[in-house]
Amino acid sequence: MTNDLLEKATEFIRTCYKELNKTDRETAERLVEVREQIHSQGFYEHTAAELEYGAKAAWRNSNRCIGRLFWESLHVIDARTLSSEDEMIDALFEHIRYATNKGHIRPTITIFPQESPHQTVRIWNHQLIRYAGYQTEDGIIGDPHSIAFTKACIDLGWEPKFGKFDVLPLVIQINNNQPKLADIPEEILLEVQIRHPSLKGFEELHLKWYAVPIISDMKLEIGGITYTAAPFNGWYMGTEIGARNFADENRYNMLPPVGRLMGLDFKNSASLWKDRALIELNTAVLYSYKEDGVSIVDHHTAAQQFKKFEEKERESGRAVTGNWTWLIPPLSPAATHIFHQSYNNEMKTPNYFRQPKPY
Ligand code: ARG
Repeated sequence: MTNDLLEKATEFIRTCYKELNKTDRETAERLVEVREQIHSQGFYEHTAAELEYGAKAAWRNSNRCIGRLFWESLHVIDARTLSSEDEMIDALFEHIRYATNKGHIRPTITIFPQESPHQTVRIWNHQLIRYAGYQTEDGIIGDPHSIAFTKACIDLGWEPKFGKFDVLPLVIQINNNQPKLADIPEEILLEVQIRHPSLKGFEELHLKWYAVPIISDMKLEIGGITYTAAPFNGWYMGTEIGARNFADENRYNMLPPVGRLMGLDFKNSASLWKDRALIELNTAVLYSYKEDGVSIVDHHTAAQQFKKFEEKERESGRAVTGNWTWLIPPLSPAATHIFHQSYNNEMKTPNYFRQPKPY
């Protein structure tokens, strides 16, 4: 166990210190320190510089992410000294505020204390900001993706509102203690009302979405150390909202209402009514975020940026890994270069990994 950790730590420190242009002497001295910490307590602690590099490298290694060109710009908030749920909830509020930046979104990660024999911190939310989903006798209300978590919140005492877009509370847990719930203050919450530049009546669909996707249920692994609570965000690519969250039949399932609005021929799938509805839905998402000054990227631009990332990595002598099935956009995939090549889906570390749900 400690041998495995020592091996992972050593490999990480070597790569990290090389990329940070540290001297051989600094690297050797740090390796001695790390070894001593592991032998005396069974784990070691990253320096602030190692943590920052590790979080950025984890983004760079995220095979499913098309937005990796910007990995170096990640803003890393070191929240490892926080010890109470209340302090952590304040840190989550601060993350939301800082990352949202009135719409000029800043890629940000907040890193809570590492997993240790004495302590595990978990955020129960899938994303810090997410809409509730309710299974009722007359069907589902809200986001079906959130049904299980919403039920967990209600069991913990959260008052359900039964709306289509109810922002869920933050739920944070230390060890096996009773999880703490906190509503996100309205002042720090940015949402975009979805409207269409030309389609009459589109706003009557009453669609909206939140500005910042902040993944909060994955663990960050750096040099054999695990951070079970390390929420991170970038900005949205339009298709995530317009071609999946709003369009999937098991999500908001909006293609029929949009198609109806457009007066399309539902009887005949060869009328391509779904495809036409998808295009207008995605046009509306990009238009609304842009007009509100909220950062968003269309899938063509994102693919070009990814191409630049691939080139930069090649120049740096690193092999790019990727998961083709996730990298291709769900709209017009073959209109991007990604579709026409293959990627090695090997998982390098540091990286972000899925972990079991705590509820
Ligand atoms: N696909 C997820 C959603 O629609 C968000 C995943 C992260 N996306 C991002 N652009 N960083 O909510």
